Amino acid sequence: MSLRPIVHADAEAGGRAVAERVFDLAAEAIRARGAFAIAVSGGRSPETMFRAFASRRAAAAEGEPWTVLWCDERVVPPDDPRSNFGLARRLWLAPARVPAERILPVPTELPAEQAADRYDGLLRERFAPGASSPRPRQAFDVAVLGLGPDGHTASLFPGRPSLAVVGRWSVAERSPTQEPRVPRVTLTLEGIGHVRHAIFLAWGAEKRPVLSSLFSDDGTTGARDLPAGRVRAQESVEWHVDRSAWPTGPSA
Ligand code: 6PG
Repeated sequence: MSLRPIVHADAEAGGRAVAERVFDLAAEAIRARGAFAIAVSGGRSPETMFRAFASRRAAAAEGEPWTVLWCDERVVPPDDPRSNFGLARRLWLAPARVPAERILPVPTELPAEQAADRYDGLLRERFAPGASSPRPRQAFDVAVLGLGPDGHTASLFPGRPSLAVVGRWSVAERSPTQEPRVPRVTLTLEGIGHVRHAIFLAWGAEKRPVLSSLFSDDGTTGARDLPAGRVRAQESVEWHVDRSAWPTGPSA
């Protein structure tokens, strides 16, 4: 697993590069398995990637076998500016006209616990490897994750019981410190762990202190007990940062 972050000039260049990486992984998945599934996050980090997706009309072409899901969601209506689905819809899914049947939002019309149960069942049915079902399972290919200043990722916050949950893909959670403090639904570490490739994005100087806890200056070691440091994936965990987030790190 490659831990060394890839350093981009800024969030704009990083977003474009990550979009290209996702297109390559999608092409590979479609060649190998005939389908591609990507889970995305909220916050500001994925904005430039979403715009790059929109400009390439990712997942919009007729018959393009992408499925879009969420690493975490704030339990608010889709039109609320805090909605993670709403962000992706505004910047990517609506401008690119991605068909609704390719999109699996968290059912935020339900209370958080019920929404998490429903999402857990849906993910398990679509993506659980090896479970018996008349329908062939689709692989869960990519999870694009952000990084909070406290080391959280998705809505997995330091010290919260959701970090220790096993046997579930998604759970209800709330944010102890990070705005917005609305109920949330998040993939668990085990749920994320089913993905082939986890891709972290961290742009901006406010990510500097937490990145330096996660990595040493040469990008090889560092504290791995923060939620983001505990993420595992089936094939790779990649970190994409920008120069202002990691000024002393080696260049890509
Ligand atoms: C959320 C997120 C969360 C986010 C980080 C980083 O819904 O809040 O998915 O994990 O990725 O808080 O947020 P920024 O990208 O805004 O820095």
